[in-house]
Amino acid sequence: MLEAIKNRRSVTSYDSTKEVEEEKLREVLKAGSIAPSEQNLQPWKFIVVKDKEMKKGLAFVDHEQYWLEEAPILLVCVANPTVWIGGQPIYVHEEAEFMGLKRVIRDTSMAIMQMAIEAENQGLASCITAWYQQLDVRPLLEIPEDQYVVSIMALGYGKEEPEEKPRKELEDIIYYEKWKS
Ligand SMILES: Cc1cc2nc3c(=O)[nH]c(=O)nc-3n(C[C@H](O)[C@H](O)[C@H](O)COP(=O)(O)O)c2cc1C
Repeated sequence: MLEAIKNRRSVTSYDSTKEVEEEKLREVLKAGSIAPSEQNLQPWKFIVVKDKEMKKGLAFVDHEQYWLEEAPILLVCVANPTVWIGGQPIYVHEEAEFMGLKRVIRDTSMAIMQMAIEAENQGLASCITAWYQQLDVRPLLEIPEDQYVVSIMALGYGKEEPEEKPRKELEDIIYYEKWKS
């Protein structure tokens, strides 16, 4: 298995004095951009946030997780459900039943995971977060109401090396050929 997959951790403490090199950031973003997506629609946008005040605002709406401010970069990962309806505007929110929204969240999640793994590969720490409401986070970044913020990912040099979190045994999560066998 790739070392980066094994070693990645969710890190919630960052060295705010150590910036992320532009080349490393590009590699992380590139890893997201080459993720698979249904019909290769690539329904994502990644907003790179470095501004202190903006990070503070994002940390506040993201369940007051102020440790996020320390991360030199917050990557706001946004899915565009309108790709499924020819770009027509639609209002999306947490409870929306629109199937296109589920599809683009699925796609964008794959891109986010690839970025987290590439961050580890570049010697960076990351943490995927999503403890906010669309209504609170969108206005901060002038994101339209037909776009869905899938995650705010902290990125930077970590100040901690968390232990591996426990995981379920493979035997407990795998069935063969059909459900529960
Ligand atoms: C969708 C999603 C949302 C998460 N939100 C938060 C969050 O708001 N704050 C946080 O500290 N960690 C958050 N996490 C990190 C998880 O707590 C973490 O992935 C899990 O405990 C396993 O630990 P590991 O990532 O170090 O293996 C989130 C992870 C995912 C996938």
